[in-house]
Amino acid sequence: MDQNQLKQLVAQQAIKFVPDDCIVGVGTGSTVNFFIDELAKIKGRIKGAVSSSEASTKRLKEIGIPVYDLNTVGPDELPVYIDGADEVNHHLHMIKGGGAALTREKIIAAVAQQFICIADESKYVPVLGAFPLPVEVIPMARSHVAREIVKLGGHPEWRMGVTTDNGNIILDVHGLQIAEPVKLEQQINQIVGVVTNGLFAQRRADVLLLGTAAGVKELS
Ligand code: 5RP
Repeated sequence: MDQNQLKQLVAQQAIKFVPDDCIVGVGTGSTVNFFIDELAKIKGRIKGAVSSSEASTKRLKEIGIPVYDLNTVGPDELPVYIDGADEVNHHLHMIKGGGAALTREKIIAAVAQQFICIADESKYVPVLGAFPLPVEVIPMARSHVAREIVKLGGHPEWRMGVTTDNGNIILDVHGLQIAEPVKLEQQINQIVGVVTNGLFAQRRADVLLLGTAAGVKELS
């Protein structure tokens, strides 16, 4: 099976975590796009979705799924958030933000009762950090944040030409071996000018559906 087939497989499995009549949290990326295709098949049994990006919102609307403003949706109505990851470890800590949607993803993940991560096996790593860590930054703070990240041992690179849905820029931080994801997530969040960083460790996934050649493995 190729990588896309593994992504499709986990997207199909994720549907079993979507209860009837709920509002489902929808992430961003190519794996989630397969999940949106699966949601289209069961759209009659859900109320709608909250979306983590303009790109996912567009796809959801195109298939006729109502998209709610998160401010009108409480945790009781949001049983599950389904999203991909750029890297995930055995604690279900993740690096996310390859698609620049990390801030809205983290907000929905904070509200949802359960976070289901869907990923192909190439994303499963012993130590986070080979994938450059995305950090969303207020544009005028770019150089300040970059200098502070260098003090933490990282090598930040401005993702040129990318503006997030929130009007900010992304720094991709190379060269990190992230031994303590919760600590580093907090440290980077404390830098003035950082909106969000792509470490999802304080709020990790509850379940990982990992697509492998031998089928879908469910880890929690
Ligand atoms: C977007 C994300 C995605 O979940 C992550 O980049 C994985 O994407 P894909 O499913 O395309 O590999 O965090 O901001």
